[in-house]
Amino acid sequence: MAAALLCLTLLSLLIVHSSCEQVPSIIHDACKASRDPPACEDWLSRFGRVPPNATALQLIQSSLQVISGDLKKGRVLAQDILKSSAGNPNRTTDAQSCLDGVISSAYRADLVAGALHRRQTKEARAWMSSSLGAKYDCWSELLNETSKPDETTPFFNSTPISGGSATLSMLVNYDLYGEKIGLWGPVRTERDGFWEPVTRSKPFLGGGVPRGLQANVVVCKGRGLCDYDTVQEAVNNAPSGSNKRFVIWIKTGVYEETVLVGLDKRNVVFLGDGMGKTVITGSKNAGQPGVSTFRSATVGVVGDGFMASNITFQNTAGPKTYQAVAFRSDSDRSIIENCEFLGNQDTLYPHGMRQYYKSCRIQGNVDFIFGNGAAVFEDCHILIAPRQQNPEKGGQNPITAHGRTDPAMSTGFVFQNCVINGTEAYMALFRSNPKVHANFLGRPWKAYSRTVFISCELDAIVTSDGWMPWDGEFALETLYYGEYKNAGAGSDTSGRVRWSSRIPAEHVASYSVANFIQGDRWIRGI
Ligand SMILES: *[C@@H]1O[C@H](CO)[C@@H](O)[C@H](O)[C@H]1NC(C)=O
Ligand SMILES: *[C@@H]1O[C@H](CO)[C@@H](O)[C@H](O)[C@H]1NC(C)=O
Ligand SMILES: *[C@@H]1O[C@H](CO)[C@@H](O)[C@H](O)[C@H]1NC(C)=O
Ligand SMILES: *[C@@H]1O[C@H](CO)[C@@H](O)[C@H](O)[C@H]1NC(C)=O
Ligand SMILES: *[C@@H]1O[C@H](CO)[C@@H](O)[C@H](O)[C@H]1NC(C)=O
Repeated sequence: MAAALLCLTLLSLLIVHSSCEQVPSIIHDACKASRDPPACEDWLSRFGRVPPNATALQLIQSSLQVISGDLKKGRVLAQDILKSSAGNPNRTTDAQSCLDGVISSAYRADLVAGALHRRQTKEARAWMSSSLGAKYDCWSELLNETSKPDETTPFFNSTPISGGSATLSMLVNYDLYGEKIGLWGPVRTERDGFWEPVTRSKPFLGGGVPRGLQANVVVCKGRGLCDYDTVQEAVNNAPSGSNKRFVIWIKTGVYEETVLVGLDKRNVVFLGDGMGKTVITGSKNAGQPGVSTFRSATVGVVGDGFMASNITFQNTAGPKTYQAVAFRSDSDRSIIENCEFLGNQDTLYPHGMRQYYKSCRIQGNVDFIFGNGAAVFEDCHILIAPRQQNPEKGGQNPITAHGRTDPAMSTGFVFQNCVINGTEAYMALFRSNPKVHANFLGRPWKAYSRTVFISCELDAIVTSDGWMPWDGEFALETLYYGEYKNAGAGSDTSGRVRWSSRIPAEHVASYSVANFIQGDRWIRGI
């Protein structure tokens, strides 16, 4: 029956298959993993003939080749839009962001094939999640540009996103069940009662930015006193595509600049002289023409293996401005230790990939830790700052806004041993009129938003509801918000919204540094 249906589907689309027997049932079986099996079958059949005896792994590799072709087409479309956007700064920004998204999506998708060869399925899943996220970003940027909705927008929403989603779902099934394709099925989440099996039982012994690193170059204030007087110049002079660390010592001083660490600048390390001493600061914000939230970042990192310690990252955009990012990162296997992030709305943007934040201080008021990264925050201090406008009137402050768009993505925010509190100024305002202030652990930016708080200290400023909706019922049945063994006056879960959860004790280990971001492989002891 299933085979017959598949024949009909394929024939009706006039896809060139000489006979029904040649339509491999493996496509049909593998596509059971996807969220839209018929679309998955149509999409994969474009690859042409998959050998009838293909393995699941070969099928996934075929689908990566289809993705690669889709992304080449996407790149051309995005370049066309960019060319035709001259003179329109907003459109240029959106088109450029889309193009950047396509490029980084292709870069990640290419890495997936290599990871599969090495049997590193967790890396393959992480990179494919990011590849899909980057395509989603491109599409959503273009949605804001209605001048060419006829071709580009539907193109991105259909093939690359649904094909990417199907491939990621297959990868998850392959990781869980291997070649036993009969067991494959739609990816389940914690809301369906599914937790990733704990595969790394060795305890993660802790670690961070290695101590005693020798600086390759030194940045300081004052021309001629050391190698560079801006951080960006030092980054520009880091070797491209290097697998060796490039250590930049940024001496005490206030560096007013926006810094970009590009895709080819890998393993760059920023060492500062301390929070509040080495300060990188900017004031870009999403209210300016040509500046998106993404581009408002004072420091934006794309290259993998980035590390930073003993630095303050800040965005000082004034009142009447909105999204203003202090630090944004897509760096895989990134370690940030002893750093401070200062801002208001959208301070810290772990946009994608695996990131480890240790002993950091993160300050803001609305959605101030947001993005679609797989980020673990350990021993961090999270502080609510007063609103810039009419602070005495208070308001609702969601601390996090995780943006997972697909249930198969291995992304989420994990907070362990963190403290949630207010700044001195906020606490004074709160005490003088508690009822106008409400602080929430998070709200769902995207449908599969995932955030957990484990063994944290939640001050009384956290409301008893705990979590807030984004917009009506949106995402409430698909998100996962979990809490486990938190303490403090804000930690009582008895009044929590019904769509948040308590993490079952036997599954807490699935959020460990080792299991969630495979940190035991890349975070070394210090
Ligand atoms: C599939 O069959 C062909 C031809 O019989 C053979 O050469 C190939 O090794 C087989 N592949 C697998 C994965 O079994
Ligand atoms: C369009 O732009 C607005 C304002 O810049 C932003 O809030 C919104 O998220 C964008 N829409 C999409 C689909 O990206
Ligand atoms: C950060 O600064 C502290 C205090 O000065 C120092 O002990 C630590 O080694 C520094 N971290 C790194 C990675 O250099
Ligand atoms: C560009 O974006 C800014 C900020 O979002 C907005 O105020 C302005 O009207 C936009 N300009 C055009 C031409 O759309
Ligand atoms: C938050 O800070 C206040 C001082 O401003 C302190 O009294 C309180 O104990 C702190 N709460 C937590 C949970 O650490």
